[in-house]
Amino acid sequence: MIVAGNWKMNKTPSEAVAFVKELIPRLAGAKSDVVVGVPFVALAGVVDALKGTNIKVAAQNLHFEAKGAYTGEVAADMLRDIGVEYVIIGHSERRQYFGETDVTVNKKVHTALAAKLIPIVCVGESLEEREQGVTPEVIRRQTKIALLGITQDALTASKLVIAYEPIWAIGTGKTATNEQANEVCHIIRELLAELYSKEAAAKVNIQYGGSVTAANAKELFAMPDINGGLVGGASLKAADFEVIANA
Ligand code: 13P
Repeated sequence: MIVAGNWKMNKTPSEAVAFVKELIPRLAGAKSDVVVGVPFVALAGVVDALKGTNIKVAAQNLHFEAKGAYTGEVAADMLRDIGVEYVIIGHSERRQYFGETDVTVNKKVHTALAAKLIPIVCVGESLEEREQGVTPEVIRRQTKIALLGITQDALTASKLVIAYEPIWAIGTGKTATNEQANEVCHIIRELLAELYSKEAAAKVNIQYGGSVTAANAKELFAMPDINGGLVGGASLKAADFEVIANA
């Protein structure tokens, strides 16, 4: 089980540090792995504030090249150097607003693994795709391309996480039903079994994301193929994130 907050473009570095200090006692007893995904400029301060605690830190993106002339980008080694352990890759907002594709997602997964960062790879269909009945095809395509060239050993040793986030459920308050969410997480699990093995597939944490709240987290996380959540809005409130991380 792994519960991760994705703060998106919220909280200044000083707000971020104050906020995680508030989270530390609230999450100290969490039974799942807990991660906060914070803006680049807040990473160093948050890593520092969380030293010695059970809360891990994720970046929300990285560049796929190791270094070079890529103005404004951030490399995997830079994240590792300041103590970041996870990185969110291919969030639908990055695909939608910043031109990320299945291919760049795959490149970023390779780069993250090479730097020993744990990828949280996001996949999810749009409302239109769901209504057209192609959700399984979309999810299979996104997942398969994201993992191209990743061996079974790399997959399991890295503890790579896949987050299923239906775009129509993100920030809309329109959560997928437990059954809808589990159905797609199950499709991902079956694909992993097909690409690798049943054993490897069973070891991968598959999260659900999209309007997860303190009220619905427990039921979602109790579904057989859902191993936690990727939480946006509700991860910005300490009391809500506490309930979700303990769900
Ligand atoms: P919300 O929880 O705000 O719907 O956002 C989900 C999300 O995009 C997490 O990555």
